[in-house]
Amino acid sequence: MNQAEFARRRKQLMEQMGRGAIAILPAAPLRLRNRDTEYPYRPDSDFYYLTGFPEPEAVAVLIPGHAHGEYILFSRERDPEKEVWNGARAGQEGACRDYGADDAFPIDDLDDILPGLLEKCERVYCVMGAQPEFDQHLIGWVNQIRARSRAGLRAPEEFIALDQVLHEMRLFKSRAEIALMKKAARISAGAHKRAMRACKPGMMEYQIEAELRHEFMRQGSQAPAYNSIVAGGANACVLHYTGNRAPLKDGDLLLIDAGAELDNYASDITRTFPVNGRFSAGQRAVYEIVLEAQYAALAKVKPGNHWNDPHQAAVRVLTKGLIELGLLKGALPKLIKEQAYRRFYMHRTGHWLGMDVHDVGDYKIGDAWRVLEPGMVLTVEPGLYIAPGTSGAPKKWWGIGVRIEDDVHVTPRGHEILSADAPKTVAEIESLMAH
Ligand code: GLY
Ligand code: MN
Ligand code: MN
Repeated sequence: MNQAEFARRRKQLMEQMGRGAIAILPAAPLRLRNRDTEYPYRPDSDFYYLTGFPEPEAVAVLIPGHAHGEYILFSRERDPEKEVWNGARAGQEGACRDYGADDAFPIDDLDDILPGLLEKCERVYCVMGAQPEFDQHLIGWVNQIRARSRAGLRAPEEFIALDQVLHEMRLFKSRAEIALMKKAARISAGAHKRAMRACKPGMMEYQIEAELRHEFMRQGSQAPAYNSIVAGGANACVLHYTGNRAPLKDGDLLLIDAGAELDNYASDITRTFPVNGRFSAGQRAVYEIVLEAQYAALAKVKPGNHWNDPHQAAVRVLTKGLIELGLLKGALPKLIKEQAYRRFYMHRTGHWLGMDVHDVGDYKIGDAWRVLEPGMVLTVEPGLYIAPGTSGAPKKWWGIGVRIEDDVHVTPRGHEILSADAPKTVAEIESLMAH
């Protein structure tokens, strides 16, 4: 992502804010993993979306029309001694030179400078609740101005959720974003293929996770976009299973939900395949239903359709399939209406995808489902899960859990599957695993 793209985003946001407004965004804090060792640093998505600034301990301020600079960045000062230990810092010079700030100050001067900027503004755009400690600071600065009201100072009167405007922007991906997401999805698809090739009965789930991670990192991904799910057999029926410590058994299926993050953009792919490389008749029957449901849902991803259309299409095929398997009994419309499928399909068919794996953006506008538009990216991920002990389900189905998930970009004429490189038909999977 080049600097021009970040500058364009700031400009777009400031145009919507208008004069008299100020937006304040803190960087994500470093978090301790144990004692004095930190988790790998991952910037806050909103902050990074507007700045491209990769360091912690920073605050971005946007003031449309501000004579002394519309974009002000507070960040750590250069410190040769600390930089020997933890690497280079941009410092204030770098903030302006490399990251497009109009003006830059040391983060330690925030308390001195920010009240002065706030007092010139009527409306404050901020993200409340994500960083309570920062919210306290903001309230403190505003109170400082209020305390001086007799000296003629006026505190801002309106506080506006920055999320509304910003997340609407983030929902629509630019060409550069789509290119990056496609790259992330390709890396993930490669990792799923690697896992299929490596998988043998007797291996441990974590050994397959190692294959995924190896491929992610080898291709330049900085981290998994979320905790990888590597779920053998009945573990696939635990939707957020991330233990990944069990052995993989001959005759079981393996469900892998894993996606690479690349430059802070996520991919999110699920594939389900037989541990020994060949689907049993029963596994195949369930798998084909889920695949047909996914195709039906994908066909609904196009401009003009609404958010819920793919889900409804998937639910219809899944319910019909459950009747055919003998797992549901009754008339199709009635079973759909009563949501009888929810015993076997308890999640929705997708979510927005972007910098965050469950990305920002409204799913409804007022009471109505959102209409799909070009530039949106979503997942399509139907599944069926027959947990051991499911009442009314014959034992032969127990422990079969299948999900198939792709990343889909809405285009002017329909859609583009970003994760298309990951095999998903029975024939494709069995052929890849046979070699
Ligand atoms: N991996 C999380 C999800 O599929 O939503
Ligand atoms: Mn997903
Ligand atoms: Mn997923």
